[in-house]
Amino acid sequence: MNFTEIAINRQSCRKYDTSRAVETEKIQAILEAARLAPSACNGQPYRITVCRGSVARTVAEATAGIGINKFAVQAPVMLVISEEPYVRSAAAGAKLKNNDYRSIDIGIVAAYITAEATAQGLGTCILGWLDDKKIRAVCGLDYPVRLVITLGYADKDDPLRTKKRKALSELVQEKD
Ligand SMILES: Cc1cc2nc3c(=O)[nH]c(=O)nc-3n(C[C@H](O)[C@H](O)[C@H](O)COP(=O)(O)O)c2cc1C
Repeated sequence: MNFTEIAINRQSCRKYDTSRAVETEKIQAILEAARLAPSACNGQPYRITVCRGSVARTVAEATAGIGINKFAVQAPVMLVISEEPYVRSAAAGAKLKNNDYRSIDIGIVAAYITAEATAQGLGTCILGWLDDKKIRAVCGLDYPVRLVITLGYADKDDPLRTKKRKALSELVQEKD
């Protein structure tokens, strides 16, 4: 798949094939892609925790509430993305320029993860609705959890949807 094909095929998967495990080599390929993601001052201020089995289930439950993210428990793997401290130069830049580089970096690594998962034929959904305290406890993390990504094979009745997006005219302006 070229990048445009990945962008078209990636979608939030909210229905997983619970009978299919994710191959270790595919998870490894996703993590290698994540490792190549750019970040402010090349600091990579995050940690990715790969959760399977009962830990994945606990993480999934910690993303659910008021009817949101009920589907997450079906996914066999949960990737938890939590913060790590900035490298010194990025910390200084973030302060001086009042810019949240770490959240930007986490967004980029999530994009790399979901893109590579798509290339590997896997489904993902980025989850931002989560219980930080519960996930930190089960994963043994010292810093805030920002995103969880569900990972698994999409169920066969989860067809590719037409993307709903703003028109380019709403997103882009040109200045000369
Ligand atoms: C930062 C972020 C947080 C999100 N949180 C959730 C979430 O908690 N639950 C959910 O079902 N989808 C969540 N999504 C998925 C978006 O709703 C989805 O990407 C968007 O509607 C576009 O649909 P698509 O991913 O199928 O193209 C999140 C996406 C992002 C980027």
